Amino acid sequence: MPPTSFPSAVPDGARPPLAAVTADLGLLYGGDYNPEQWAPSVWREDARLMRAAGVNLVTVGVWSWARIEPEPGVRDFAWLDEVLDLLHAHGIAVDLATPTASPPPWLGVEHPETLPVDRDGVRLVAGSRNQFAPSSRRYRAAALAIARDLAARYATHPAVRMWHVGNEYGQVDHGPEAEREFRCWLRERYGTIDGLNEAWGTAFWSQRYRSFDDVVPPRRMPYLVNPTQSLDFRRFTSDELLACYREQHAALREAGVTTPVTTNFMGFFPLADYWSWADAVDVVADDQYPDHADPRSPADAALVQDLMRGLGGGAPWLLLEQAVGATSWREHNLPKSPERMRLDSLQAVARGADGVCFFQWRASAAGAERFHSAMLPHAGADTAAHRGVQRLGGDLARLRPVLGTRVPARTALLFDWESWWAAQEPGRITERLHTLDQVRAYYRPLWDRGVAVDVVRPGAPLGAYDLVVVPQAYLLPDDAARELRAAAERGACLVVGPMTGVADRNAHVLPGRFPVALADVLGVSGEEWVALPDGGVPLAGAVGVAHVHGELLRADDATVVARFAEGHLAGAPAITRRDHGAGAAWYVGAVVDEATLEGVLDDALALADVAAAVPGAAGLADVEAVQRGDLVFLLNRGGQGVRVALPGAWTDLLTGRDVADVVDLPPNDAAVLCPAGPTQETGDHEVH
Ligand code: GAL
Repeated sequence: MPPTSFPSAVPDGARPPLAAVTADLGLLYGGDYNPEQWAPSVWREDARLMRAAGVNLVTVGVWSWARIEPEPGVRDFAWLDEVLDLLHAHGIAVDLATPTASPPPWLGVEHPETLPVDRDGVRLVAGSRNQFAPSSRRYRAAALAIARDLAARYATHPAVRMWHVGNEYGQVDHGPEAEREFRCWLRERYGTIDGLNEAWGTAFWSQRYRSFDDVVPPRRMPYLVNPTQSLDFRRFTSDELLACYREQHAALREAGVTTPVTTNFMGFFPLADYWSWADAVDVVADDQYPDHADPRSPADAALVQDLMRGLGGGAPWLLLEQAVGATSWREHNLPKSPERMRLDSLQAVARGADGVCFFQWRASAAGAERFHSAMLPHAGADTAAHRGVQRLGGDLARLRPVLGTRVPARTALLFDWESWWAAQEPGRITERLHTLDQVRAYYRPLWDRGVAVDVVRPGAPLGAYDLVVVPQAYLLPDDAARELRAAAERGACLVVGPMTGVADRNAHVLPGRFPVALADVLGVSGEEWVALPDGGVPLAGAVGVAHVHGELLRADDATVVARFAEGHLAGAPAITRRDHGAGAAWYVGAVVDEATLEGVLDDALALADVAAAVPGAAGLADVEAVQRGDLVFLLNRGGQGVRVALPGAWTDLLTGRDVADVVDLPPNDAAVLCPAGPTQETGDHEVH
């Protein structure tokens, strides 16, 4: 299997797609492989078992810095040569990691400034992982040096088909070097100290700075931190981590790497703004560890997967890590069945993944993750978990027709990191209102109804959508407000949640009746945000309850759908609707119960004429149905068999069976249906 060829150098800005890897390998399947934990005899068994399980890609080297560079400046690549050659000989491709997420202990001993400092001023030490300060020049130089040497050695190795920079970037540092870089970042952003003083609102509490040299990261302070300082430190931290990523990515390219380069995201991770990262990775890759003991986790996982698709502009993404069974870091840590693991994996493929990988291939005997599940458990290959892994390998090999296809959606859901950050700053109306809870609450009814959703960033063009849902855009940039207005004016439906359009990009509360930029579009305006008492407030006009947060609204040019029935807000509108041609804009001025929110979303879906992607599966509680390209994925998480109406003639790629008009889905099972036809390529490949 020769690597797909790329030009010898990748032009600036060009992003080799995942198709560069999948074109010959098919859907990617495998996991993190940590051979430095094992003897060479084990590597040989691993390669054989990987091949038998249908594995075609493993991520190697994430935690191997100390092995490659046992002493400063020394390089030991011999073992890695052997591992890569062995994998290649078995037809297994490698996503080669720069090992820069965990420097060897000697780096921190010789150069303590490479270690991160927490907000209390405590310098962290080696003995775990992630012990690096992103702003440390010494760390950055050492990381770049090893990345360069690795690339120089393996850029053209035939096993290496992808590169993986660092791991799960998410370190925060409050040390002296972070302070220096934070000041530079602020200078760049604001130009003058007056600009910073204005943006940070330092007239409050006598915080005025005379110079950038007086500004410090938000370390431990006597009381609440300036919210804009805190927001800027989050922006800076994300940018600083991105700079670490970018310089290694560039170094790999300079050394001749022509294959896709990426790193692993972590869904709705709070320490990196993935909208700003998305352009830097060639392929969006994500680690997903939904809590399978939580009954809503399939919906929440679907939301993350729709976000990953959104980050890549709809292009296929890669599920780079998930757990075969239990993780070792979750309090409840309940087991996960092989069937559930299979369904979760197929869910990711349904929602745009062109590959499914795990942490990790072989369970570690030692170390902090010795009880984390793995593709090959401690008990070996003769286990239910490993048989599940083999089965999934067979499934994925049959799904070639899915490669490169996209998930069509007419509903958009807006989400933004900066807005999330600003909305979560302490000192807010109520600490019980959480942006992510709202995002999930608005997404779940759509998922329950089988509606396809794209997660988009504020400001993204909305012309393709008939329904736009804004659970909470606390900071609503001007371009986002313009797009929402244009969508409403052309007759799309909008559903906007509470605490939206509250503040500007500096997190200053906007003057005027809120949501200032959208009040006329929504036909409603507000004057007071109100924390609601525990137990909530009943709504009149709906059978539901408002809880956590409500708003004192006035319906200026909108119909009142529901009012607060009691308390401080008694009689005031809680939910409003303003018609716009064929569409309408709803404002939900409270956190409302599920049924009430479902009522609003149902009305909006009906008016927008947006239905389930697979109408025959709508209403089947345990069935998730997704259309991807012209394929239909049906996942039955229930303990009972179900029958799904699906007009037409289809072939189930998983079983090879032809079906017409109805699909019988056994319990805990799935079907991936491809329109039947004489020229249809089923992609049925033999599994090794
Ligand atoms: C991820 C990490 C892996 C492993 C895994 C365990 O955060 O990238 O190396 O620690 O979690 O769930």
